Amino acid sequence: MKKTNRPILIIDSGIGGLTILYKLIKKQPNCDYIYFADYENAPFGECSASALRKNLLENIYTLNQKHAPQGIVLACNTATAVAVNVLRRVYKGQFIVGTEPAILPAVREGKKNILVLATENTIKYNKLIRAQLQNENINLMTLALPNLATLIEQNIDNLQYLKPVIKEYLIPFISKIDALVLGCTHYIYLKPILREILSTDVKVYDGNNGVVNQICKKSTTNKSGKIYVLSSKASCGINLISAWNLLKLNGGEICAE
Ligand code: DGL
Repeated sequence: MKKTNRPILIIDSGIGGLTILYKLIKKQPNCDYIYFADYENAPFGECSASALRKNLLENIYTLNQKHAPQGIVLACNTATAVAVNVLRRVYKGQFIVGTEPAILPAVREGKKNILVLATENTIKYNKLIRAQLQNENINLMTLALPNLATLIEQNIDNLQYLKPVIKEYLIPFISKIDALVLGCTHYIYLKPILREILSTDVKVYDGNNGVVNQICKKSTTNKSGKIYVLSSKASCGINLISAWNLLKLNGGEICAE
């Protein structure tokens, strides 16, 4: 296949990475995208890191053989934390873009009390979080909400239902923070609820714009602009449709900052 016709492969455990795909096709419509939602191995956040790495490598190998993408995007903080380094070693001829919690933009804007909301695996294995926990100029806090990505999948048509449980977890932090970093692409869907819970002087950050900019810089466009959405579990296709409709309704922003 000619290099210019090669698609970009985007991977997440489910609907999280659609928040990146939506922004990406708006910014760079003239490119082909293959989105793979690995529901079979979801959630990524609470399984063993070695099993997750193995599953990712196997799935990416198969998808790579079949579609020869020009680049691979881990539209998932957890997959990035456990597998981005090994993928960069294996797929040297293709670009690999990962997703990381947007702690640095918060630090650059002078935020001092930063809470990162992420999965257990991201908090455990993300290098940026580990490094910033040592930064004496900021007070970095982390919080893993058990099963939150699964709850978001299950309640994508009625996310307000999750507000009481999220509020309960956030209460101990609410008066202490000036920034909340969403370190999981699934959590982007919670922005409206988080805005209702948090006071207006707490800024909410996510890494999606940075990811989209990096992909656009590294990729080659073509004329066709096709999007293929694949799922390793057919019954979960409905979640992808609901999430896409929600993104369309909100112009991909979910809620204005
Ligand atoms: N969306 C993923 C992330 O950004 C993972 C959610 C999960 O499967 O636990 O971390």
